[in-house]
Amino acid sequence: VITITKIFNFCAGHRLHLPEMSDSENFELFGACSNPAGHGHNYVLEITVSGNVDPKTGMIIDLKDLKDVVTREIIDQVDHKNLNCDVPWLSGKIPTTEVFADAIWQRLRENIFSVARRITLMKVVLRETPFNVVEIT
Ligand code: NI
Repeated sequence: VITITKIFNFCAGHRLHLPEMSDSENFELFGACSNPAGHGHNYVLEITVSGNVDPKTGMIIDLKDLKDVVTREIIDQVDHKNLNCDVPWLSGKIPTTEVFADAIWQRLRENIFSVARRITLMKVVLRETPFNVVEIT
């Protein structure tokens, strides 16, 4: 299998908080991530696709097309946003790295065909910090 990966950066804020629990219970579960005013991260998103190398172009996918669809469907919607309230496709979800990465995976799986038909989404890696990383395959 041959794959190609495009890497994106964006900034976003969030608060990890379950409304049915008290502030002290939330703090016990989520620590500083439950701070009432929220906090931000510099996220790194890695999108990996596979497909056949076109014999004419030598490419699996034009990376500009991959960049365009990820920028349109994900980056433009989350960059400099509050993940708890600004992003319709995260509405009602708790914006942990796991939940956020899964929402990105679902959204891209539905939309990646708009730029290239014979492409398979192989992997989404979301780095919330250099030390906290979620991978979906
Ligand atoms: Ni956080």
